[in-house]
Amino acid sequence: MRKPFMAGNWKMNGSISHVKEFIDGFSVSEEVVKTREIVICAPFTLLSLCSEYGAGRKPYIRFGAQNVYFEPKGAFTGEISVAMLKEAGCYCCIIGHSERRQYFGETDATVNKKMNALLDGGVLPVVCVGETLEERESGRTEAVVSGQVKGSVIASAGTKDLAGIVVAYEPVWAIGTGKTATSAQAEEVCSMIRGLLNEALGETVGNGIRILYGGSMNPANVDELMAQPNIDGGLVGGASMKPADFARIASYVE
Ligand code: PGA
Repeated sequence: MRKPFMAGNWKMNGSISHVKEFIDGFSVSEEVVKTREIVICAPFTLLSLCSEYGAGRKPYIRFGAQNVYFEPKGAFTGEISVAMLKEAGCYCCIIGHSERRQYFGETDATVNKKMNALLDGGVLPVVCVGETLEERESGRTEAVVSGQVKGSVIASAGTKDLAGIVVAYEPVWAIGTGKTATSAQAEEVCSMIRGLLNEALGETVGNGIRILYGGSMNPANVDELMAQPNIDGGLVGGASMKPADFARIASYVE
């Protein structure tokens, strides 16, 4: 059984006061706490506060970063290492988000190096993949997404233990647009990703990897998306800023 992984991605949003309001305002049932992983990926500068403020109040909320650099230390002005994330209390780290691929030149090769560094340092990688609208409309969804999965993740098969990593399928056209993929569209791609992972890593590892859907997930569509057999969680942008909305998403009804 794959434990559902419900993650918020605050992107470049939030503040010290928002962290406190969010943690104070977030509430889910004990059953949800026991059966699901709940994560907030906050900006770097808020991570230590998130861990410290959350620990005494909502210890079941785990925290993650939205990017990392693959080198362990040195003259890389502006970058953050895996060890720094760990010290700030990070459980996981998003890598290869489409906004980073689009605006900051992230490639499958750099995402793969980041994944390897996270695995070596004991921080859980959440590797994002997804096609643009143009790629979908020209019938290239499978080619694009499978290329990303191979280049970012499967490239490390045989050299890294990939059991337990998280992959997030986020169609770029659904991110921040209010336009969600239908549950059938999302399942189609997530099951294709599962097939690739099973083929490359074997079914024991492949079937244990959690595949998330991301792209305008919200309280109204989460139940249907989470009912799909190969969707094991969500990566939630806009709706994860509001504690009540994110609590409802994490409490999706099976
Ligand atoms: P969204 O963002 O939920 O606001 O569409 C998702 C994401 O980019 O991870």
